[in-house]
Amino acid sequence: MDKLVIEGGKPLSGTIVIQGAKNAALPILAACMLVEGKVTIDQVPKLLDIDVMLNILRELGCRAEHEDQTVLLDTSSLHSSHIPEALMRQMRSSIFLMGPLLARFGEVTIYQPGGCAIGERKIDLHLSGLQALGAEIEEDGSRIACYAKKLRGAEIHLDFPSVGATENIMMAAVLAEGLTTISNAAREPEIQDLQHFLNRMGAKIIGAGTDTITVEGVERLTPCNYQVIPDRIVTGTVMVAAAATRGQVTLLNTCPSHLTSLIHVLRRTGVQIAVDGDIIKVGTASRPKSIDRIVTSPYPAFPTDLQSQIMVLLALADGVSIMKETIFEGRFKHVDELARMGADIRVDLSSAIVRGVSRLYGATVEATDLRAGAALVIAGLAAQGKTVVEQVHHIDRGYDRIEEMLGRLGARITRFSPITNNTIVP
Ligand code: EPZ
Repeated sequence: MDKLVIEGGKPLSGTIVIQGAKNAALPILAACMLVEGKVTIDQVPKLLDIDVMLNILRELGCRAEHEDQTVLLDTSSLHSSHIPEALMRQMRSSIFLMGPLLARFGEVTIYQPGGCAIGERKIDLHLSGLQALGAEIEEDGSRIACYAKKLRGAEIHLDFPSVGATENIMMAAVLAEGLTTISNAAREPEIQDLQHFLNRMGAKIIGAGTDTITVEGVERLTPCNYQVIPDRIVTGTVMVAAAATRGQVTLLNTCPSHLTSLIHVLRRTGVQIAVDGDIIKVGTASRPKSIDRIVTSPYPAFPTDLQSQIMVLLALADGVSIMKETIFEGRFKHVDELARMGADIRVDLSSAIVRGVSRLYGATVEATDLRAGAALVIAGLAAQGKTVVEQVHHIDRGYDRIEEMLGRLGARITRFSPITNNTIVP
């Protein structure tokens, strides 16, 4: 397993171009199963999660190539809707394939994706949404078979605004007979991107970005070319890293309107932020101020995917901050690792009490999940001395060569691969 070796204490500076959004690309790649023919998707970053999704599509019979951030898909030879359990376990987001494959083939077989480090990750809202559209579901152990001669539009209410369930139901409803409404839908920008992509192929969807989405079923879709939106979580991660190292960074290819809650929090800590079109400038030279209370909630509130990163900044703040995590029950695994670096954080059920310290110290720490790993990299950049981050594959799921990205901003960070037993210098 690769490691990242970081020499901390140097402010980040310079300009960086943000990669395409993992959480937009994954459902959009799944949505390509709704159409027969060649589809080109641009701005798709090279990530482990994207690799797994493309391998699943190849297993189902698609041709899939990924060159220079562009994915070329040909779904004409798609012949199966049985997703192998081993691949399902590699990435729970393969659940997104249920809706499109059910709509295209009238049947789909998946396996319980299982939980992960951050939580149980249930899929009951996905299954009940598909049942409302007329699907029959048979569960046999971890195997889930789903059948529907013809999906029919329905009125669906989500008990929780689940991002994945909203996207799965949208995709299943596109070719269903009649009108589907999804109330209490998730409102994330990635859902708006999925609507734009599907409508580009001839779907009739309105309301993405609000809590009510309406889908008018159509007979068929037509292949298209599309570019996914920039990744708001990668953008936010770099912004927090700039603030935690007291640097000056310019970020290009961003969507500032997708980061309103983070920009508000960073400004409250005293960080200067300037926005001009798709450019964000972040700078500070002083110690951050603490924030009484931050609560993670569904978009447009503060995103759970930036909780561990902002906690590093608060761990260095002048004062006490409270972070409440309301989305995932296991999303504080970075706290123990930050404590090894000198952070003073106490977890009380779903809240973390963060007492700011004046500095963090380099240590050997372990990434437990994608965003916790990103937080440890930020901590290593801000800390005094050397930090080794292990289990870097978690980070590679969502960041395209993070050491090269941050290296372009002056970070002293190298990847060490025990397999080749040498340092990979960008
Ligand atoms: C998406 O996951 C994102 N992943 C996650 O990003 C993100 O953290 C999450 O939305 C919340 O914003 C992708 O888009 C690929 P949910 P998803 O369904 O769809 C419960 C990252 O770091 N729930 O909104 O799985 C669930 O247990 C990843 O990039 C049910 O109870 O999130 C969780 O507590 C991590 N039943 C909560 O809802 C269901 O059927 C939020 O889940 C579905 C979900």
